[in-house]
Amino acid sequence: MAESGRKLRSQAWFARQDKMGFYYRSWLKNRGFPQDQFDGRPVIGICNTWSELTPCNSHFRVLAEHVRYGVLDAGGFPLEFPVMSLGETMLRPTAMLYRNLASMDVEESIRANPLDGVVLLMGCDKTTPALLMGASSVDIPTIGVSGGPMLRGIHCGKPIGSGTNVISMSEQLRAGQITLEEFHEAEADMHRSHGHCMTMGTASTMACMVEALGVGMPGNAAIPAVDARRNLLAREAGRRIVELVDTDTKLSQILTREAFENAIRTNAAIGGSTNAVVHLIAIARRVGVELSLDDWDRLGRNLHCLVDLMPSGRYLMEDFFEAGGLPVVLRELAKHGLLHENALTVNGRTLAENNRDAQCWKPDVIRTLDDPFKRDSGIAVLRGNLAPDGAIIKPSAASPHLMRHTGRAVVFESIEDLHARINDDALDIDENSVMVLKYCGPKGYPGMAEVGNMPLPPKLLKRGITDIVRISDARMSGTAYGTVVLHTAPESAAGGPLALVQNGDMITLDVAERRLELHVDDAELAKRRAAWTPPPEPMERGYVKLYVDHVLQANDGADLDFLVGRSGAKVPRDNH
Ligand code: FES
Repeated sequence: MAESGRKLRSQAWFARQDKMGFYYRSWLKNRGFPQDQFDGRPVIGICNTWSELTPCNSHFRVLAEHVRYGVLDAGGFPLEFPVMSLGETMLRPTAMLYRNLASMDVEESIRANPLDGVVLLMGCDKTTPALLMGASSVDIPTIGVSGGPMLRGIHCGKPIGSGTNVISMSEQLRAGQITLEEFHEAEADMHRSHGHCMTMGTASTMACMVEALGVGMPGNAAIPAVDARRNLLAREAGRRIVELVDTDTKLSQILTREAFENAIRTNAAIGGSTNAVVHLIAIARRVGVELSLDDWDRLGRNLHCLVDLMPSGRYLMEDFFEAGGLPVVLRELAKHGLLHENALTVNGRTLAENNRDAQCWKPDVIRTLDDPFKRDSGIAVLRGNLAPDGAIIKPSAASPHLMRHTGRAVVFESIEDLHARINDDALDIDENSVMVLKYCGPKGYPGMAEVGNMPLPPKLLKRGITDIVRISDARMSGTAYGTVVLHTAPESAAGGPLALVQNGDMITLDVAERRLELHVDDAELAKRRAAWTPPPEPMERGYVKLYVDHVLQANDGADLDFLVGRSGAKVPRDNH
């Protein structure tokens, strides 16, 4: 029984005084759990994405121990379990291909086991949305604990950031501006502690989303992985989840439409990753909130970026933490009436109550809305005959002089075609061209890889040109930058208009007008469509086939169609 007198779902396993009860209790007693652990105290799952193949989550065994202590402090019964982990840097063709698979693992692991509440340990990019999606489809009391960012990278006495400086250094290497030895040295200098990428990339963005959604404890976003306060937060989360079970506060009471609207505005204010768009839409739809691309454009419009963090700015997550972290940003948004302040968070208080007293200690790192770091930083949603179902651009990472641009298409028919020709000085391309990359969307790659920020041709780099307009149906790393149009829908592999673009076609990007137009008349497009054939299926069996057959387009969150929504936490039937 919970303190409220409500019967816990775990009691369907542990309260039985028969053959089945023997099974359920006896096989746990071999781990040293005595009889009194089965007396009706809340059973808390600690859902762990630790893996040596996910270096960003390498400290999660320690973090899980702190959650465990917290659960015990509060009189709960903690049981840790592993789920599929997704290492962004290792997984091929892209970790995103497996986000939905991992979410199924999480959902079924929670529902099938005697759990009353769950703490989700997540860090590397896809682990956060995968765990939140899975938990949302079950909808028991849930708290998210992020692993925290790494300490700032230091190279030659200067700070360097995950991803962001990889991209600039690999371009410097290609342009002959640094040696291979310097390149190798930087690898160790960049990632020197536990934690996830320490720029405002996807992992840090999603950790901010966890806090802004109210599903994480205050401070969740920015405490470095190796700072003792990360362990304190984990312990607090362990204590608090027991109370959430006692009050039967389900995840759906936290993940409301208001919470998602708060998260979208927060994403603009932190200059967050474009990947948050697909992830938040997917999470929302699991929990029954109809979030759309239009919500992103409407809520983010005219909002400014407050934080001067890479990839758009100068600082790193450690600086953000020292400046006061996300509570400062949330307080500033609330001050201007831009948050639903009464949104409930997992510590039992509202977002406003949590952040009202936040103080900024480094005003050059976290600015104000009256004196922002960058103006108009919300995700812009583009539409037009090239993207009937939408495409997105992150204005704060783009070049101002390219925000309204018409140029000649230089088309790459696949990622292999891009790699084969990009270094060729004979490539017919200049700074006014528009690079177009096809077949990199959810079905096309498959998995919608982060290849949308195509490398620039060396012949342009040597001339000091660092950005041109790039368009694709792919995603972009949260640590990348440039005038890059992403998530074009429908994608080319699904027969979207992107598949019909040819070299020399003129394309207009107009971010202010939210337009993406291909200047080819309808008759010509119809002719090209009649001649188009879909690409061959990448796999004839297994998960990849399931994925390609069922994945939704980016504007719908790239979830699998049959996973949208929730099935609840009903206790499954016996296994004997
Ligand atoms: Fe894991 Fe960047 S590679 S967060």
